Amino acid sequence: MLTRLTPPQPDRIMAMVAAYKADDRPGKVDLGVGVYKDAEGRTPVMGAVKSAEARLLESQDTKAYVGLLGDLDFVGRMRDVVLGDAVPADRVIGAQAPGGTGAIRLILELIRLAKPDATIWYSDPTWPNHPAMVAHVGLNARTYRYFDAATCEVDAAAMLEDLSQVQPDDVVILHGCCHNPTGANPTPETWAALTDMLVEKGAIPFIDFAYQGFGDGLAEDATAVRAMAARVPQMFVAASCSKNFGLYRDRVGVAMTLIGEGSAPEAVRGAMSMLGRLNHSFPPDHGAKTVEIILADDALRASWEAELEAMRTRMLGLRAELADCLKRETNSDRFEFFRHHRGMFSRLGLTPEAVEALRRERGIYLVADSRLNVAGLPAGGIGDLARAIAAVA
Ligand code: LMR
Repeated sequence: MLTRLTPPQPDRIMAMVAAYKADDRPGKVDLGVGVYKDAEGRTPVMGAVKSAEARLLESQDTKAYVGLLGDLDFVGRMRDVVLGDAVPADRVIGAQAPGGTGAIRLILELIRLAKPDATIWYSDPTWPNHPAMVAHVGLNARTYRYFDAATCEVDAAAMLEDLSQVQPDDVVILHGCCHNPTGANPTPETWAALTDMLVEKGAIPFIDFAYQGFGDGLAEDATAVRAMAARVPQMFVAASCSKNFGLYRDRVGVAMTLIGEGSAPEAVRGAMSMLGRLNHSFPPDHGAKTVEIILADDALRASWEAELEAMRTRMLGLRAELADCLKRETNSDRFEFFRHHRGMFSRLGLTPEAVEALRRERGIYLVADSRLNVAGLPAGGIGDLARAIAAVA
């Protein structure tokens, strides 16, 4: 039977990770996969995480199963981090999930259970796992235009025009902040227009929230999502703790379903429990418990927020430095968008040939669509990098 399998095509991010690993040049530069790096190029465990894990090690006296929806204290605390007091807590049914990807998968399967012929809209471009998972789960897919490749900014008019075609119960995936891969984000006005449109058409937003705290601040990054939640009758949110808690490999995420009038909370909760049971039974506990300890403790929470804020402002500093260098090297404002984009990534708008030339000639790794991980910028090497980019741009 297994002889029928052919090697799958890895997505462009995973393909880049493999190519980087296989490169044995000492000076290679990884600006690819979305993992935060400090000035020394390390991805350290956050201080609050270390302290919370020490407490957990000390206090945990069982590894027995927690529950199909995971640790509900963690879920409640994450609901507050993401949604604040935008909606009453009893409208949100949450399930702990194995990372943001696990949360997206759970929500897609919930949608399929409720409406097997549902249509999912996602931005063009988007994180490659969105189209891959929608196709894998077997839902219909539509794309909406998002990015103006000429300016490297959001094309709000095209986005709203395409989304004006949504039908009742269509689901629209939106990046809550820090759009991946472009780094270009809708203005508050565009978010408001989008909300009006989805409410009017009866379509359901599905927020992928993987970078909260990496854009304009922990609460600031949730402003648009909270405003939308306060207005729409139904919504899905997949939130990840991979980046903002640095818990990548521990797989910590939460799937939230905002229910409206007529939805039976017990039916939604039961469906989410059952889907968890079918996928992984019980979600992994360690990372989620660690997050819960941090969020429940004033001092640990303050320490986590301060460290997250330092990561965010470091990335902003790197943005400004590269934008300055690119301005000088190209003698133009062509890359000025890099300064005010937000989050871990920007799509530079380079051709695939230019990306390939950077890899081949300089050992500089970007994702093939020219997405650059801001946090990977080498301390002291930004001038050189700007020269290399300018030479192929
Ligand atoms: C990324 O976009 O690089 C990250 O979210 C890692 C991943 O799983 O793709």
